[in-house]
Amino acid sequence: MVSSHAQLDRVRIRSSSLEDLTSILKIQNEAFPGGGWTASDYVRLAQGSEGLLIIAELGEVMPWQVVGFAALRQAYDQAELLSLAVAPGYRRLGIGRALLREVLFRLESLSVRTLYLEVRPSNQAALGLYRSEGFMLNSIRHDYYGHPREDAYVLSWVIPAACSDRDSQK
Ligand SMILES: CC(C)(COP(=O)(O)OP(=O)(O)OC[C@H]1O[C@@H](n2cnc3c(N)ncnc32)[C@H](O)[C@@H]1OP(=O)(O)O)[C@@H](O)C(=O)NCCC(=O)NCCS
Repeated sequence: MVSSHAQLDRVRIRSSSLEDLTSILKIQNEAFPGGGWTASDYVRLAQGSEGLLIIAELGEVMPWQVVGFAALRQAYDQAELLSLAVAPGYRRLGIGRALLREVLFRLESLSVRTLYLEVRPSNQAALGLYRSEGFMLNSIRHDYYGHPREDAYVLSWVIPAACSDRDSQK
């Protein structure tokens, strides 16, 4: 367990490898009990040309420990954030934000213009993170989630116009 944002300099973000799958599944199952992907789902995503699976690992002790991950899928100039989670003992340290910023950075270089995601309105931690990074409410999907039943907010993040203008002038 680490104790402050100062520890972030010991966190590194990289693309996942097969060795990370056990950690990813453990973090997923703790974050989303009873609903989630299998190892082969993640392998398919990571190996597909439109998938991206990145992990955050902490160099507190050797070997480095996987403490969070993000999974997304790209389709042309749009992408969907399928999952983002940080291990319970490592939350509120800036790791979720670091993962999300890496996702946005990578998507910009892939010419993705809009990133979408779904989130429970009751998920204040995730909403706080997404809003502080500039995500906007796009639409509401009624009764989208089960266990417990809840709407979904569809949030979107659009690459600022200034960036698009600059890119188009290149
Ligand atoms: C959502 C989640 C990924 C955030 O990861 P994290 O590493 O704890 O987030 P960070 O430390 O980077 O926090 C970034 C911002 O998010 C918001 N935030 C994070 N946790 C919060 C909480 N418990 N309550 C309110 N806001 C919170 C804050 O705005 C925070 O910024 P601040 O620390 O400067 O105030 C993490 O809580 C998690 O794994 N939750 C379970 C899985 C999940 O719900 N994933 C999202 C599905 S859409």
